[in-house]
Amino acid sequence: MTDDAVGVGRLLIRDLEQVATPRAGNDLPLRGEALGDVDVVEDAYVLCVDGRIEDVGPMRQLRGSNEDVLELDGSGRCAIPGLVDCHTHACFAGDRVDEFSLRAGGATYEELHTAGGGILATVRATRAAGESGLHDLVRRHRDWMLRAGTTTFEAKSGYGLDRDIELASLRAIRAAGGVPTFLGAHAAPPEFDDADAYLDFLLAEVLPEAAELAEAADVFVELGAFSVEQAHRYLVAAGAAGLRLRLHGDQFTEIGAVGLAIDIGATSIDHLEATGDDGIRALATTDVTAVLLPASALFLARPMPPARALVDGGAAVALATDFNPGSAFCEKLPLVCSLACTQLRLSPAEALSACTVNAAAVLDRADRKGRLAPGYDADVVLLDAPDWRYLAYHLGGDVVSAVVKDGEPVWQR
Ligand code: NIG
Ligand code: FE
Repeated sequence: MTDDAVGVGRLLIRDLEQVATPRAGNDLPLRGEALGDVDVVEDAYVLCVDGRIEDVGPMRQLRGSNEDVLELDGSGRCAIPGLVDCHTHACFAGDRVDEFSLRAGGATYEELHTAGGGILATVRATRAAGESGLHDLVRRHRDWMLRAGTTTFEAKSGYGLDRDIELASLRAIRAAGGVPTFLGAHAAPPEFDDADAYLDFLLAEVLPEAAELAEAADVFVELGAFSVEQAHRYLVAAGAAGLRLRLHGDQFTEIGAVGLAIDIGATSIDHLEATGDDGIRALATTDVTAVLLPASALFLARPMPPARALVDGGAAVALATDFNPGSAFCEKLPLVCSLACTQLRLSPAEALSACTVNAAAVLDRADRKGRLAPGYDADVVLLDAPDWRYLAYHLGGDVVSAVVKDGEPVWQR
């Protein structure tokens, strides 16, 4: 795997059992019934030229060409768009396996957080790793994600909580080809008396440079983290600095994060495990995408988010891993698709759209990521399966057998 794979030349993926892709459309997230509009071509090919999709169609319509072309045998396999993970915390050091064991014995995530563990335990390890350590770690985590079919990933800072390591995290994410989000407001570190004092520092000393490196800002709105008022102050400043706005909201308690996300014009609100009927109704009619993280709910043995009601109500919904060492040590979007179908009552087609085109929309990339259609980036995942729905069906299986990024095969099982 290279950092700067630039697609050159022609790649023909031929004799595929199926090609499955969210239906052509604009760059807005798919909603309602359209979320399940997946086009399937049987006995198909995908032709990539210079890093872009040139053509997709049935083998019987494949035209010969005199130009040099690299061929990839798709027999016994299906092609889907490269998966897009729009919510990860992939820039971290260390682990929380001890906390995992304590939770298995009955301790809760909130108790560990209050006792100075949780996020702050990972902050200590991440600060100690230093910038070059973080570059190595993000690449390592990116490669785990790639082997599970993720060709585009977002990653947040939020384990530095000081100027140097927050900025180093954003640089490490960018260097690994990720889409960086500034999550300075993840928790208040112990050097500060309270969250307000920390926010004063963050907005004055870190945000100006973070805004040059990141594409979005994120904040953890929760009891014991940041209040709605504090999050509002942070997000207004981040918006003024040119960042798109995102929130971790309603993970444990409903304290008004949905209302804030709507009022402030956020791109997304993520988690929503605790969201009730009013929040579902409010989100249904807005442009705020609900990013659902069922691996996190599973890992913490929490209730699943109300996915079916959100989709049926008309909300824009995306799926992501939330990959992090504490609440979701899981980098695999195919497993998230399995949880979406078994726990969230989404169909395989809805799950596919939610972690391709809709996730790309959250990252402002739906004009070129998330579909297999002419003109889109040639990011393609080959599934070792006779039917593309094995993506969700093969629970925890090694379903991804090859990954093409920018028109180049970058990984094969
Ligand atoms: O999305 N809830 C806040 N942040 C992360 C967890 C981070 C951690 O536990 O290290 C989340 O679940
Ligand atoms: Fe998260």
